[in-house]
Amino acid sequence: MPVDQTPKSRIVGTGAYVPERVLSNLDLEKMVDTSDQWIRERTGIRERRIAREGEATSDMALVAAQRALDAAGLQPKDLDMIVVGTITPDMPMPSCAAFLQRKLGITDIPAFDVSAACAGFLYALSIGDQFIRSGMHRHVLVVGAELLSRILDWEERTTCVLFGDGAGAAVLAPANGDGRGVLSTKLHTDATLIESLCIRAGGSQERITPESIRQKRDKVFMNGQDIFKVAVKNLTRASACALTEAGIGASDVRWVVPHQANMRIISQVAQRLDIPLERFVLNIDRYGNTSSASIPIALDEAVRDGRIQPNDTVLMCALGGGISWASALIRL
Ligand code: ACO
Repeated sequence: MPVDQTPKSRIVGTGAYVPERVLSNLDLEKMVDTSDQWIRERTGIRERRIAREGEATSDMALVAAQRALDAAGLQPKDLDMIVVGTITPDMPMPSCAAFLQRKLGITDIPAFDVSAACAGFLYALSIGDQFIRSGMHRHVLVVGAELLSRILDWEERTTCVLFGDGAGAAVLAPANGDGRGVLSTKLHTDATLIESLCIRAGGSQERITPESIRQKRDKVFMNGQDIFKVAVKNLTRASACALTEAGIGASDVRWVVPHQANMRIISQVAQRLDIPLERFVLNIDRYGNTSSASIPIALDEAVRDGRIQPNDTVLMCALGGGISWASALIRL
């Protein structure tokens, strides 16, 4: 049976927030055995933002959410549901979304987190889209927010140079039949490489002890080369699949908003999809990898500076711990 491609939900507002404090590659040179040149050549990152002491993930999410609501012309009370993609909630329990709900000054709507690492925003977007498709909800706030600086080993040069803090948000509402909206979302997980990107202690499997802290097992561990290879392969495949299913060619895609993990990954995906890099929204040089926040921050920047125009077809793709990855095709 042919898939109904008529959009049922639409992004009606976007917003983003990054902390003020800039940590440059030159700053990092003073902290670990690295160099500005190595980081720029291997990743494309020049600097990243770091949250201030006392700032929590939901604080960043709140500013991004308020900006998205303003752009949509909506109030917090208009929301029917909040979904936050994050692996760095304010507390292990309850969810970051619950804190965000309280800070927005509203009560009694479902609010929950989704844990899909860097794919978290696209997972949240897909969930929000399904609830609007089903007719259950009208306005869903979807957020990607991460405070990764708290879970990094700042003595480990293979990871600490890569990540940054930030938040991005989008408000979803019913599409109005003019062809604009979420065309498709695709979610994937393959746990074969689960150990290649994880935080080993602090969950139910391994408690935090003085020894696990000494061994930095409560911080992000990553086998970068494993992830690099699978990222290029899966992001290309998921993006190509989204296009094929929508009956859209690569030349019909006006903008690609990829997860900003590594400029070399993005370049290889661009080459394989045969979409010129000029049509990719890139900000990895300024923010590094902000995990689930990277796509909504980049999307918001490109909407606000006028690069992305109404009716533009936009492809988004992300991959992170799990390994979880996702793609979404929207007509903005
Ligand atoms: N500064 C200087 N040298 C470094 C640094 C650094 N910051 N980090 C590593 N090196 C060294 C290594 O020790 C190694 O030295 P050796 O040859 O003497 O052993 C050398 O540089 C090369 O290291 P590689 O790991 O081979 O470097 P690579 O080119 O693979 O780049 C990187 C590493 C940037 C991590 C890359 O593999 C990558 O981007 N991987 C994917 C990351 C990603 O996409 N993550 C997914 C999302 S994250 C999430 O879900 C939260």
